[in-house]
Amino acid sequence: MTAQVISGTQVAAEIRGELKNRVAKLKEKGITPALAVVLVGEDPASISYVTAKAKGSEEIGMLEETIRLPADTPEETVLQTVDKLNKDPKFHGILVQLPVPKHIDTDKIIGFISPEKDVDGFHPINVGKLLRGEPCPLPCTAYGVQELLVRGGFNPEGRHVVICGRSNIVGKPLAGMLMQKKKGANATVTVCHTGTKDMAKFTKQADIVVAAMGVPQVITADMISEGTAVIDVGVNRVEDKTREKGFRLVGDVDFEAVKEKAAMITPVPGGVGPMTVTMLLKNTVEAAERKAGLIE
Ligand SMILES: NC(=O)c1ccc[n+]([C@@H]2O[C@H](COP(=O)([O-])OP(=O)(O)OC[C@H]3O[C@@H](n4cnc5c(N)ncnc54)[C@H](OP(=O)(O)O)[C@@H]3O)[C@@H](O)[C@H]2O)c1
Repeated sequence: MTAQVISGTQVAAEIRGELKNRVAKLKEKGITPALAVVLVGEDPASISYVTAKAKGSEEIGMLEETIRLPADTPEETVLQTVDKLNKDPKFHGILVQLPVPKHIDTDKIIGFISPEKDVDGFHPINVGKLLRGEPCPLPCTAYGVQELLVRGGFNPEGRHVVICGRSNIVGKPLAGMLMQKKKGANATVTVCHTGTKDMAKFTKQADIVVAAMGVPQVITADMISEGTAVIDVGVNRVEDKTREKGFRLVGDVDFEAVKEKAAMITPVPGGVGPMTVTMLLKNTVEAAERKAGLIE
C-alpha cells in the first residue's frame, strides 16, 4: 500500500477560506476579530512564527498587532503589557510567543492572560475545560492534528489512536481532545513516552499514530501496520551539507519507508505546521464569535 499524502498547506487553505467568510459576517455586525501577539526578544524562529501569524490574520481579514519588547524586558513589564491587552476590548485573542527569555516565568505569563482571550489554549482554566469537554480554545497544534484527520478522511471516532509524546502543548491536549464523547473524537487513546517499554507494541496496534516527540525519524516502517494513518508533528533539523543552510527539516517519522505501508501520512514540512497557525486564527475568530454570543 502507498499512502495518501495529506497536504496540511492545502487543508489549511480550505479552513482559511471558511474563516474569511466568518470574519466577513462578523464585520457586517461591526466586529473585527483582533489578535495581539507579544514578542519578547529577537529569536529568529519566533520572529518567523510571528510573521506567519500576522500574514495569516491579514489574509482572512482579521486585525493583528505585534507588540515587540526587547529581550531584557523585566517580567513585570511583560505582565503589565498582558494586563493592558486583557482590558482592551479591541482584542479578542492574546498570545505571548514562546519561548520567552529565561528570566521570565512562562507559566506565570500564561496564567495571567485572560482565559477568554487565551487563543493558544494553554491557560490552566482552559486546560481544565478541555478535559471536562466544555467549550474552550483548543491548543492549536493538537486542534490542527484533529482537523487533518477529520478532513483527510480518518475521523478518529471509534478508532485506536496512539500518541507518541506527552508534552503540555501537543500530546496531552490531543489525548484529552480525542477521548471526548464528541464528533471528531470519541477515540480509544494510548499515550506513549520515554517511560513506555516497547513503543512499537502499541504503534503496531494503532489505527492512527501521531508522532510528537522531537526525535528525527524515530517511527520506522517496522513499527507501523499496513493501513495506518500517520500524522507527523515533529520538526527536526538534521545536518545536510547539500543544502544552502547546511540542514534540512525532517519529522519524527521515517517518511519514505512508512509511506509504503500507511494509508495516510503527513509530510514535514507542509503537514501539521501550516495547520497550527490556521487553528490560532480559528480560535481568535471563535473568541470574537463567543464574545458576540454567536457561539457557545
Ligand atoms: N508543526 C508544529 O506546528 C509543531 C508544534 C509544536 C511542536 N512541534 C514539534 O513536535 C515535536 C514535539 O514537540 P513538543 O513541544 O511536544 O516536545 P517536548 O516538549 O520535548 O515533548 C516531547 C515528548 O516526547 C516524548 N519523547 C521524546 N523522545 C521519545 C522517545 N524516544 N520515545 C518515546 N517518547 C519520547 C517525551 O517523553 P517524556 O515526557 O517522558 O520526556 C515528551 O513527552 C518537536 O519536534 C517540535 O518541534 C511542531
